[in-house]
Amino acid sequence: MKLWGGRFTAGTDKAVDDFHSSIRFDSRMYRQDIEGSIAHAEMLGKVGVISAEEAELICTTLREILSDIESGKVQFETEAEDIHMNIEKILIERIGDTGRKLHTGRSRNDQVALDLRMYLKGEVGTIKSMLLELMSVLLDISEKSTNIVMPGYTHLQRAQPITLAHHMMAYFQMFRRDVERLDDCYGRMNVMPLGSGALAGTTYPLDRQYVAEKLGFPAITENSLDGVSDRDFVIELASCLSIIMMHLSRFCEELILWSSAEFSFVEMDDAYSTGSSIMPQKKNPDVAELIRGKTGRVYGSLVALLTMMKALPLAYNKDMQEDKEAIFDAVDTVKACLPVFTKMLSTMKIKRENMYRAACGGFTNATDLADYLVKKGIPFRSAHEIVGRIVLYCINNDKSLNELTMEEFREFSPKIEDDVYRAISLESCVSDRRLPGGPAPGSVMASIENGRKFLGSAR
Ligand code: ARG
Repeated sequence: MKLWGGRFTAGTDKAVDDFHSSIRFDSRMYRQDIEGSIAHAEMLGKVGVISAEEAELICTTLREILSDIESGKVQFETEAEDIHMNIEKILIERIGDTGRKLHTGRSRNDQVALDLRMYLKGEVGTIKSMLLELMSVLLDISEKSTNIVMPGYTHLQRAQPITLAHHMMAYFQMFRRDVERLDDCYGRMNVMPLGSGALAGTTYPLDRQYVAEKLGFPAITENSLDGVSDRDFVIELASCLSIIMMHLSRFCEELILWSSAEFSFVEMDDAYSTGSSIMPQKKNPDVAELIRGKTGRVYGSLVALLTMMKALPLAYNKDMQEDKEAIFDAVDTVKACLPVFTKMLSTMKIKRENMYRAACGGFTNATDLADYLVKKGIPFRSAHEIVGRIVLYCINNDKSLNELTMEEFREFSPKIEDDVYRAISLESCVSDRRLPGGPAPGSVMASIENGRKFLGSAR
């Protein structure tokens, strides 16, 4: 018989059991479920709702069940619906009537809210360490590449020279925000819902604060309806994970482009590329592509969660059982992507000559030539126009700006002198942009040092 079978005269259709059972995917929360039950039972004993001996027996048995699950001795049942009732049923099978007292003053509605918060708190920690690992690799690459000049792009057209370190540190900032967002999300997740009951709390004198402390929560939920019907923490996490994937996907997109013969800025290690079954010459950046592709399913989870919640009246509705597959898949996907991405990045070969050569083309120093004229007293808008004409001349004569002779320069402006060649060299274009946040090696080094401090305090 079902744990809730008293009110029923007939059993559930087998198809319905299969349909609404969640044990298939919520069994992964067995540890949190047991820890939550132990805290609840200890508290029931402490406040005298059950006796100290009963509490003791329940807790010991729950610990035995935990170790039996971990050594593979427990078989969960679809008919017992979910992880909560599976464990309660095993408890009752082992200790009878005492086991039947565990669920006093509790509902699966506050139980599942608790388990999910506890489970996701752990996953947030894991994902955060994976991000920090990736960020540390970014700092290592950046430290070695403050002098590797490459083109910076807008519209995927070469724009102005930067360095590889500057480019890598841009991603560092993105992942830093991801870490901060996860911390922020964790704060709101870290609130203890037990004591909300089914929706309206309970008449038993439960000590909610005690349970919260036992389970490592700094606060308890303030409204019993909200305590059981809130899934904001799941949606917020899915949103943090979506943004992480968006960042990874942009990075992957660049690495895919950079691996092409057309760019040839980097080469992935053989361990992180794959071949073609028909074209013998191919070395494809599949890992990066797959991460880019998996971004879609994480966004999908976020949209599924938002849509699932959008019309739910207070408080608990069974719709909410759908939260788990979505958020678990998003968590699993991010956890699968981050370490492989980090390894791919740390083993990638950088082709600095090709980066430099690319920065030499495309008139990436045209802005610097205009700025040079401004320093000689020409208003910027006029300087812009003069340099525009010089670029057109270069295009027609197949030259770069640095290749123009002094005579050619003077055709366009008598203000141009010999010092122009220094002013428009790629090295000066980069090293003169030394404002905080700029690509000059000194500015990027300062940012790398900030990054090291952040990693030091975040771990
Ligand atoms: N398996 C359910 C879920 O994941 C647990 C809560 C069920 N509560 C209920 N009243 N049916 O949401």
